[in-house]
Amino acid sequence: MIKNILITGANGQLGHEFRDLYSKYRDFNFISTDIDSLDLTDKKEISAFIEKNKIDCIVNCAAYTAVDKAEDEAELCYRVNRDAVGNLAESARVKALIIHISTDYVFDGKSVTPYIETDATNPQSVYGKSKCEGEEILLKYCPESIIIRTAWLYSTYGNNFVKTMLRLGKERQDLNVVYDQKGTPTYAADLAQAVLDIISCIEKGLSNYSGIYHYSNEGVTTWFDFTEKIFQLAGIKNCTVHPITTDKYPTKAVRPMYSVLNKTKIRETFNISVPEWENSLEKCLGFLN
Ligand SMILES: NC(=O)c1ccc[n+]([C@@H]2O[C@H](COP(=O)([O-])OP(=O)(O)OC[C@H]3O[C@@H](n4cnc5c(N)ncnc54)[C@H](OP(=O)(O)O)[C@@H]3O)[C@@H](O)[C@H]2O)c1
Repeated sequence: MIKNILITGANGQLGHEFRDLYSKYRDFNFISTDIDSLDLTDKKEISAFIEKNKIDCIVNCAAYTAVDKAEDEAELCYRVNRDAVGNLAESARVKALIIHISTDYVFDGKSVTPYIETDATNPQSVYGKSKCEGEEILLKYCPESIIIRTAWLYSTYGNNFVKTMLRLGKERQDLNVVYDQKGTPTYAADLAQAVLDIISCIEKGLSNYSGIYHYSNEGVTTWFDFTEKIFQLAGIKNCTVHPITTDKYPTKAVRPMYSVLNKTKIRETFNISVPEWENSLEKCLGFLN
């Protein structure tokens, strides 16, 4: 029976969205932690915490997410995205179900069709490699865990592409945005809702659920078209968006050129619906404006 649910990284953008949903799930007892209250790089602390709070389920939203900085801070990035996941896995083994959030960056972005869960990983950045090794270590120690890979996450909380574009759209008259990388934005509130629906499904008796799943919103876009939609919905008219190619916007870490995720498995296993990205963006902007 799942009663006590630990949300790690609860001050991050995804973690925050979970906190907004707690009141809808009164049968569960949620415990929120972040690095200041439970540092996941400290194995002893995690074991004691799980024991003391009788944790039945852990949703791991904690991560090192500074993709470009990670190229210079590889050690710290691996400590959080791989070693801390190993700590969680070893500490929670048998005692708690782990639902771990991973990323489209585990792929090289060379596909031309939406990635399915069994496609070969081939991360191209330190961040992507660290998340990929995090997945491997989790499945090694806790094969009964759930891993959810997501992409292009945004929220009303934290720093993200949507909030940056809203700010730049008001400050500037012209903006260059990459148009040759394809993917699907994901409203973190939708992902949090999906995870809680999954937990409810398991609580009601669903078995054979472990493994890797893909979740983003539905549809496909580019960063350029995403920006145009943000501006259109937010009523930003005085900033012109210019499409540029990736080579005109060099970054330290290599991004996947294509990272559309196939959601069939998560939809069919847990009977959840996945909102279209434009609808979710409109919803999020409604909270931001
Ligand atoms: N953002 C995206 O576009 C995106 C895309 C695909 C997948 N994801 C994945 O989605 C998940 C959630 O991402 P997010 O955007 O919500 O990340 P986020 O906003 O950066 O939140 C991550 C949280 O984890 C905390 N944290 C860092 N090190 C920790 C440690 N040692 N112990 C405990 N907590 C620690 C961070 O604290 P500090 O802020 O103090 O470091 C932060 O509050 C991550 O697994 C990420 O890899 C994100």
